Amino acid sequence: MHKSGLPSVNLLKPAVKPPLWLLAELTYRCPLQCPYCSNPLDFAKQEKELTTAQWIKVFEEAREMGAVQIGFSGGEPLVRKDLPELIRAARDLGFYTNLITSGIGLTEKKIDAFAQAGLDHIQISFQASDEELNAALAGNAKAFQQKLAMAKAVKAHGYPMVLNFVLHRHNIDQIDKIIDLSIELDADDVELATCQFYGWAQLNREGLLPTREQIARAENVVHQYREKMAGNGNLANLLFVTPDYYEERPKGCMGGWGAIFLSVTPEGMALPCHSARQLPVEFPSVLENTLQEIWYDSFGFNKYRGFDWMPEPCRSCSEKEKDFGGCRCQAFMLTGNADNADPVCSKSEHHGMILAAREQANCTNIQINQLQFRNRANSQLIFKG
Ligand code: FES
Repeated sequence: MHKSGLPSVNLLKPAVKPPLWLLAELTYRCPLQCPYCSNPLDFAKQEKELTTAQWIKVFEEAREMGAVQIGFSGGEPLVRKDLPELIRAARDLGFYTNLITSGIGLTEKKIDAFAQAGLDHIQISFQASDEELNAALAGNAKAFQQKLAMAKAVKAHGYPMVLNFVLHRHNIDQIDKIIDLSIELDADDVELATCQFYGWAQLNREGLLPTREQIARAENVVHQYREKMAGNGNLANLLFVTPDYYEERPKGCMGGWGAIFLSVTPEGMALPCHSARQLPVEFPSVLENTLQEIWYDSFGFNKYRGFDWMPEPCRSCSEKEKDFGGCRCQAFMLTGNADNADPVCSKSEHHGMILAAREQANCTNIQINQLQFRNRANSQLIFKG
């Protein structure tokens, strides 16, 4: 507090803007076992979940601060029986609501209930464009047909639908079939997102990272489809996300630490990004603090805000305001120190690790059945280890 009695304001520090986007990770439970799941490796250790009332309090506080969009994700958010109630509460508060689901556990009845609750948008993820590969990757033989049926039902209910395909070395060569399937299902938007290496995907990186040639081929196919479809109104948007492992500059992760994005884990830990709980940083709980306190005052949310925390080469880099030194989680996973520049950056002294991973992608022969699948037993093992 200033001597005048007014709160002291540090004019040198840029003002922190409120969060725009709240990700409610309702649960880590999931019927699928994807080997690239971004949930923590030791998810089985964490069984507690916020109650309906506790979630609604989080929504109220986020909305009061100015957040406009909410994503319900997990795990598989459909396993929460109170999902319609949570959607309704968020919608009544004025959020734009988005359900991010595998489609497993979805029924026509639930789609009806979500529509009545005011859900704005549904994103369904697929593992592949055919039943066999989808089953091998998801660890669930019935998943593909269920997803197809639910994608059709979502469209029939008049929802704008996003289909999300996580691409990796075992399915990226089928990208043309994946786009054909998306057109057939009348998707409004298609995200062809090459695996980002967090959680289980990082554990399986050698068996998932595509080669540069695979990515170049896929990019070419996407380009051809875009040209073919331009103007015919078939598909609103075809987004292809390449892995940062083939970039020379890192991504501006989360649009900056504590800048626009706030994630809350199933048991109520508030994070500036969904992967941050692995960092050796103390993060606050929504059970002990208001979101206002968490966002503006907590140690964890302020740790990597601004530029003062940066060591070289980021500190004097002319691109730091664009990429913020890259991803803190990736810097930690690869170098053991989250303060370091993201090794994706060619200016990083650790960039050789990225070059080695690219090299490894050219000669590895890991098959799908050799990947580590996300499941409870694996998670327990990793936790014990
Ligand atoms: Fe956590 Fe990038 S995923 S900062």
